[in-house]
Amino acid sequence: MNRPYPHLFKPLQVGKLRFRNRIWTAPTAQAMHFLTSEGYLRHESIEHFRNRALGGAACVTLGEASVDQDRGASHFHNVNLQDIHNLPYLTQMTDAIHQAGAIASIEIEHGGKYAFPQVNGGRNPIAPTGCVLPNGQIVDEITEDQMDEVADHFAETCHYLQNAGFKMCLIHGAHQWLLGQFLSPAENRRKDKWGGSLENRARFPMMVLDRIRQRVGRDFLLEYRISGTEGQPGGLEIDEACEFIKMVEDKIDMVHFSRGNRGVLRSRPEMFPSEFMPKCPNEYMGIAAKKHGIRIPVIIVGSITDPEDAERMIAEGHCDAVAMARTVIADPEWANKARLGKREEIRPCIKCFNCLDEKNGRIFGGGITSFTRDVVKRYACSVNPRIGIETDGIPPATEKKVVSIIGGGPAGMQAAITAAERGHEVRLYEKSDHLGGQIFFADFVSFKYPLMEFKNWLISRVGQLGIKVFLNTEATPELIEASYPDVVIACTGSRPDLPPIPGIEGSNVMLAANAFVNRETVGKKVVVVGAGDTGCECALHLAEIGRDVTLVEMDEFIARRTGYTQRIVLVEKIETNEHISCITRACCKRADDRGVTVETPEGERFLEADTIVVALGTRALQDEAEAFRDCAPTFWLAGDCAEGPKNVRHAIRNGYDAACRL
Ligand SMILES: Cc1cc2nc3c(=O)[nH]c(=O)nc-3n(C[C@H](O)[C@H](O)[C@H](O)COP(=O)(O)O)c2cc1C
Ligand code: SF4
Repeated sequence: MNRPYPHLFKPLQVGKLRFRNRIWTAPTAQAMHFLTSEGYLRHESIEHFRNRALGGAACVTLGEASVDQDRGASHFHNVNLQDIHNLPYLTQMTDAIHQAGAIASIEIEHGGKYAFPQVNGGRNPIAPTGCVLPNGQIVDEITEDQMDEVADHFAETCHYLQNAGFKMCLIHGAHQWLLGQFLSPAENRRKDKWGGSLENRARFPMMVLDRIRQRVGRDFLLEYRISGTEGQPGGLEIDEACEFIKMVEDKIDMVHFSRGNRGVLRSRPEMFPSEFMPKCPNEYMGIAAKKHGIRIPVIIVGSITDPEDAERMIAEGHCDAVAMARTVIADPEWANKARLGKREEIRPCIKCFNCLDEKNGRIFGGGITSFTRDVVKRYACSVNPRIGIETDGIPPATEKKVVSIIGGGPAGMQAAITAAERGHEVRLYEKSDHLGGQIFFADFVSFKYPLMEFKNWLISRVGQLGIKVFLNTEATPELIEASYPDVVIACTGSRPDLPPIPGIEGSNVMLAANAFVNRETVGKKVVVVGAGDTGCECALHLAEIGRDVTLVEMDEFIARRTGYTQRIVLVEKIETNEHISCITRACCKRADDRGVTVETPEGERFLEADTIVVALGTRALQDEAEAFRDCAPTFWLAGDCAEGPKNVRHAIRNGYDAACRL
C-alpha cells in the first residue's frame, strides 16, 4: 500500500513502548468536561478521548491534572488523581484508549503561583518567589519542606497513574506552572541554591524527576513539556530550555516543546497560536533541540494543522513527533484521514478559541487571575458540532427524504452535509453565485486563513456528498413547493444593520462585508463605525492594505463581546497598529461626504473620512425564513435566522441539529 506520509506514520519506539505513528493529541484540560464534583471521570469524557484514539493518533494525552489538590489545583476541570475511588474510571479511560490502539497519557502539574485558592481550600498558592498577585492574592514562598512534599506528590501521582493503567505521563514543565516557575529566570528570584544559575533553577525540577523515577521505575515513560519561549522579557528562551533538557535527558524519555506563560496575558494567544500567527510557529524549537544534540525524541506542538507540514518536519529531522490540540478537536479523525489519503476531508480548526474559553470561567477584560464560576459554560467546538455530545448517536436515516435547504452559509452547508451523511437527498439553494454566506469574506483577509480553509472544507464536503447546489437561485416558496420536498430547512441568515443615522445612505458609506471584498473601493482615510469583532477585523484588514483607520465605538471598550483569548489578541493588534486610532464612548450622529460626526463625553467631534465603513451588527432574516414554513410537511429554521445573529459555532451546531432531527 502506498502510504501518503511515510515519516508521519512510521512507528516510534520509546523505551518499551511502540507508538503506531508520530501523532500525539496534546493535553486539553477543558476536554475533561463532565467531571463529577469529586473530580471523577464520567462516561462522556471517556468517550471523548476514546474517539481521539479511534481517530488514529498514537498517543492520547488527557488534560492537566494536579498532583496536589490541597495547594496545586489551578482550575475547575481537574480530574482527581488523589482519590482511590477515581481509579476505576481512570482505568476505564486507559482501557478505552489502549483498546483503540493508542497509548494513554495524562499531563500532571502543580499550579504553584497560579494555583487557584477557590479549589484548594482557600490556601495561599506557593511559588519559588513569594509575591502578591494583581487580584490581591498572597503567594507564599515555597519552603524546602514543601518542595520535598511536592516532589513526593509528583511521585505518588505517577504511581497512582501506573495503577490506573497508564504507561506514561506528561510532566507539565511549561507555561510557568510550578516547575516552569522554578526554571524561569524572570520568575525565580531566589538567592539560595534553588535560584540564580540554570543549575540552581533546574534543581527542583530535577529533584521531582528523580523522585518520580525512584517511585515508578525506568519503564514508565516520562514526557516533559517545556516552553521554548516564555514570551516575557528576561524569561526562558529556547537555548536555555534545550540546555535544561540536556541536563535531565537521562531522567526523561521525550521532550515536548510548547510556548507561553501562564502569567503573561499576551502570551495566551501564542500558547494557543492565534489566526495572526503562521502555522507551526514552534518548529524552530525542534530545530534548536536537534542542534543542541538532544537525543531523546522531540515533540512539538502549536498550530500543526496540515499533514504535509507534519511529514516535512519529521522528514527533515526537526522533530520526531507532532502534538495537536485544536486540530484534533476540530477533527478527531485527522490521523486516519491523513493515513488513508483522505487529506481533503480533514475539517480545519478556525482558531476561534471557543473550546478554550466557553468552559473557562474567565471574566470579560479580566487579567490572569480573573476566574469566576459564574461564566463557566461548556466545552464545544465551532466547527465540530459533535464535541460535547459525543455520546449521542446520530443514526442513519430510516427513510430517505428530500431535503431542501435555503441558504448556503455555514448553517445551510452544515445542515446539508449532515442530512446527506445520514442518507437524505439534499438540495441547497443559494441566491448569490457562491457558497459561504457571511464567512465568504475570509477569502479576502490574510489573517482569516483558518476560516477560509474551513469555508472551503464545507464547500468541498458539499461537493463530495453529491449535494445538488443551485447557485444564483433566489428561492421562493413557489419554487421550493414545486419540487415537493419532504423537509425544508431555512438558513436565510442575517443582514447587516443600517441604523437610522443621517447621511448613512451616502455613496461614501459602505458595509464592512463590502469593504473586505471590494478593497479597491475603499478610500485612503477610513472611519469604521462599530468595534465589535467585525469592525475590529475590518480595521485591521484595512490598515494592513494601507489605509489609515479611525475605529469608532459607542461602548467604553472595543470588542466587548469577543471571546476571552481572541479579545486579547484582537485588542493588542488594534492598539499596536500605527495606522489605527480608536475612539470609544463615541456615538455616530451623522455622516456626510467629508466624514462622520460623533458625540463623545467631551462633546461633538468631526472625523474626516474618504470612506465610512459600517460594522454595526446584523439583523436576523426571520420573516424571510418563515415564508417557507408551509412548503413541506416538515420545516426547520437554523442559524442566524433561528436564534438571532450569533457566531460560527451556533450556525454550525444549529445546522447540524436541524439535520439530526430528520
Ligand atoms: C481546549 C484546550 C485545552 C487545553 N488544555 C491544556 C492543558 O490542560 N495543559 C496544557 O499544557 N495545554 C493545554 N492546552 C494547550 C494545548 O495542549 C496546545 O499546546 C495548544 O493548544 C497549541 O496546540 P494547537 O495549536 O494544536 O491547539 C489546551 C488547549 C486547548 C485548545
Ligand atoms: S474551531 Fe475553535 S473551538 Fe474548534 S478546535 Fe478550533 S479553536 Fe477550538
